[in-house]
Amino acid sequence: LARDRATPPPAGNRAELLAGLNSCRRCPLWENATQAVPGEGPLDAPLMIVGEQPGDFEDLEGRPFVGPAGQLFDEVAARAGLSRERAFLTNAVKHFKFTPRGKRRIHQSPDRQEIHHCRWWLDQERSLVKPKAILAMGATALESLTGDRRGLLKRRGTVEVLEDGTPMLITVHPSYLLRLPDMEKPAMMRAFEADLARAAQMVS
Ligand code: URA
Repeated sequence: LARDRATPPPAGNRAELLAGLNSCRRCPLWENATQAVPGEGPLDAPLMIVGEQPGDFEDLEGRPFVGPAGQLFDEVAARAGLSRERAFLTNAVKHFKFTPRGKRRIHQSPDRQEIHHCRWWLDQERSLVKPKAILAMGATALESLTGDRRGLLKRRGTVEVLEDGTPMLITVHPSYLLRLPDMEKPAMMRAFEADLARAAQMVS
C-alpha cells in the first residue's frame, strides 16, 4: 500500500506503531474513537490472529478482544490448547466504528475503504511479527488479508496461502457465534474449537 500525507512513517517497533496508529488520518474513523487499538502479544509470536475491529470495551481499554467476543475466544482457545499469550492478537481495522444511540454505541461494520486503508497497519504488524501462520477470524479479516470476503462459511476450516507464502487458516468470528440461534450454535462452536486447535498445531 502507498504511503501518503495522511500516513505516519512505517513503524520499526511497538512504540512507533502505537504512535503512528494514533496519528493516522488515512480514514475518518479516528475522529469518534477513543483511541487506536494495536495488536497485542509477543513480537516473535509464531501465530497472528486477526479479528475485525475493536468493540466498545476494546476502544475504552486500548486492548484487543477484552469484551464479550474476547471472553468467548479465550474460553474456546483454552479448550483448544491455544495459548493467547503465544499469539499476536490483532484486528483488520484499528479504530472502533459505531453510531451513538442514546448512551450506547452501536457497532458498525467497517466498509471496503476503511478496511483497505487500515491494511497499511496490518501489513506493518505482519512485518514486525513475521508470523509462521495467520488465523483469520471472520469476513473482515479475510477481506483485509485476501481482498475477497466472499464465501466465508465455505472457506472456513481451510488454509489459503497469502502472497508472501504465509499459510492462513480461516474461521468465523467469535461475535458471529454469540449471535447464532441456539439450534445452530453447538455445531459451529465445535467447528470453531477445531479451527483454534488446528491453528495451535500449525505453529507447534
Ligand atoms: N471484535 C473484534 O474483531 N476485535 C476485537 O478486538 C473485539 C471484538
